[in-house]
Amino acid sequence: MDLSNDLQSWATAIQQRTEQALDKALPAANIAPNKLHEAMRYATLGGGKRVRALLAHAAGEFCGADANKIDQAAIAVEMIHAYSLVHDDMPCMDNDDLRRGKPSCHKQFDDATALLVGDALQSLAFQVLSAPNLHADSEHQINMIHLLAVASGSRGMAGGQMIDLASVGESLSQTELEFMHIHKTGALIRAAALLGAYSASALDEKRISAIDHYAQSIGLAFQVVDDILDTEADTVTLGKTAGKDADSNKPTYVTILGLVRAKELSEELYDSAIEPLKAYGEDATRLVQLAQFITQRGF
Ligand code: IPE
Ligand code: IPE
Ligand code: MG
Ligand code: MG
Ligand code: MG
Repeated sequence: MDLSNDLQSWATAIQQRTEQALDKALPAANIAPNKLHEAMRYATLGGGKRVRALLAHAAGEFCGADANKIDQAAIAVEMIHAYSLVHDDMPCMDNDDLRRGKPSCHKQFDDATALLVGDALQSLAFQVLSAPNLHADSEHQINMIHLLAVASGSRGMAGGQMIDLASVGESLSQTELEFMHIHKTGALIRAAALLGAYSASALDEKRISAIDHYAQSIGLAFQVVDDILDTEADTVTLGKTAGKDADSNKPTYVTILGLVRAKELSEELYDSAIEPLKAYGEDATRLVQLAQFITQRGF
């Protein structure tokens, strides 16, 4: 990954520990049903920027959480995210053949397997988050599980995906587009940061509210940039088919605002994201650097 300055070594370390934690949590490919486990591992391991894990760790560090606890929140969100990508690529949704530089899950395996990979990854995410003693306070742990459930479901990611599919060929208002993006992408990004923060044993409400504001802005910015990259970057750089939104007649920030205004909006969202962190000086460095990466990334 092309991350600036000292964010790079921190990010590499988090990506490595996330990969290890995912590897450990996913059933081995030689456990029955082998094909399903192989496909779950194919869809989850060895790729992706791991932005949600990075956000969970940056927010968790900011709130004083133990890194081993944050790992479990981070992989739960990465599993939901991987499941959402597997289903997003299926012929009944975006019909995309390439994901993370490899054939998408249904191309490598088959549609039925891809469907079940999504189902099983979703369950596994909640299995991880509900593990006994993940958090010393079990009521608090239930709140974390509840947060991820809401962010993943019809009032979160799945709902946003429904709106996305229903919007093909429509010209949405900016408010409608924002509603869609906040749900399909923003909800899980917000959950990643909040679950990282909630992994701390003692909660600092002021810090959590700063994280919440940050994550909502950066979650929307993430999809604004994804829309921009779909038009500006190439397939090899993205590891997924470029130009897919226009080909599929999807309303995006680029079609609604134009490229220049979409870029300005991502900068405005960056400013808004970091505003509540200013009071925290160096404590918030990672969060600010990640916001920079998310809004300025080229892939
Ligand atoms: C792609 O997400 C789908 C969106 C929600 C925009 P990412 O760009 O985070 O995908 P990976 O995990 O790095 O492959
Ligand atoms: C997907 O949005 C958001 C999800 C919940 C998976 P996109 O359809 O724009 O994601 P990409 O561009 O295929 O990664
Ligand atoms: Mg899609
Ligand atoms: Mg897609
Ligand atoms: Mg996209």
